[in-house]
Amino acid sequence: MQIDKYVPEVYTSLPEKGSVSWESPSNIALVKYWGKYGEQLPKNTSLSFTLSNCKTTTKLQYTKKEEGDFSFEVRLDGELEPDFRPKIETFFKRIEAYLPFLRSYHFEIETSNSFPHSSGIASSASGMSALALCLLSIERDLNPEMTDAFFKEKASFLSRLGSGSASRSIQGPLVVWGEHHAIPNSSNLFATQYDGEVHPIFKNYQDTVLLVDVGQKKVSSTVGHNLMHNHPYAESRFAQAQENIVKLQAILESGDVDGFVKLVESEALTLHAMMLTSMPYYILMSPNTLQIIEAIWEYREATGSKLCFTLDAGANVHLLYPKAEKDAVLELIKDKLVVYCQKGQYLCDNIGLGAKKIAQ
Ligand code: DP6
Repeated sequence: MQIDKYVPEVYTSLPEKGSVSWESPSNIALVKYWGKYGEQLPKNTSLSFTLSNCKTTTKLQYTKKEEGDFSFEVRLDGELEPDFRPKIETFFKRIEAYLPFLRSYHFEIETSNSFPHSSGIASSASGMSALALCLLSIERDLNPEMTDAFFKEKASFLSRLGSGSASRSIQGPLVVWGEHHAIPNSSNLFATQYDGEVHPIFKNYQDTVLLVDVGQKKVSSTVGHNLMHNHPYAESRFAQAQENIVKLQAILESGDVDGFVKLVESEALTLHAMMLTSMPYYILMSPNTLQIIEAIWEYREATGSKLCFTLDAGANVHLLYPKAEKDAVLELIKDKLVVYCQKGQYLCDNIGLGAKKIAQ
């Protein structure tokens, strides 16, 4: 089996205790993952920009105990966070075959985000990847022969089992997850760095996230993915995503920014169209999301700007644009868009290179 390689040799001795920290970024999909099967396997290929400033920092302390039930405590910004427990419990169950020491330790997980929790900027991507990286670092200490390449691959493999989009946060700047005939070595099991040609214009893209609704999501991504089963448009959506990957490859190579705008906005609206046409149907955009979209289209029409938007499974709007437009776009935000943001909040980010281990 392909996944056997992620099952380690039996450990001969485990350290009594230790501590490890990682920071891992969020990412923003250009071609979206929406629909999954089996154990966290994607129905279509997705391709994302890794972010830089939007990130989770996680410190994991581990102390040996009698082998038994999973044992952990999780804190967000220093406060116990019982709401995180079920997701982590599920994560541990899914990964224990690949990290057999999990039941032999008590874990103290301390985590903090550089952005508001559940702001819809995929905190599960940065959070789950940071935790996966901390856990895999324990194994790497036991097996120093592990190559860097294998470490990244297994970190992505484990992250995927926590949250699909988390598989894309280990590396950067462009990352692909899900098998695709036009992308050699692409896999459903883990994400890889996109190694096709990329025009310089796409190398320092900016992402400013307008925080339209900072509350908890009304419908979780997990529920949304499940509604793609028996969805009347699912099969054509999955086929469209596979075609969009090929189109995006050509766009990235040639620097066709107009093509980029069209493809990325269409992907965002298609994602939300899937939600509108699910049964039960639901809407995650808010009136302010639509106001912002209208304002972007007007601005583009008036100025010839290459600014475009994308959306995740929430009301927030990601503004994507070339670095050369930064001052003008920040001006636009202050003049016209900030009124649509909750408490006037927005986050400035740009493409990043992936997760980093923190020296302790
Ligand atoms: C809309 O990765 O949050 O952000 O695998 O159930 O944890 P789970 O879902 P999740 O889905 C995110 C979907 C998306 C699009 C994307 O990031 O590709």
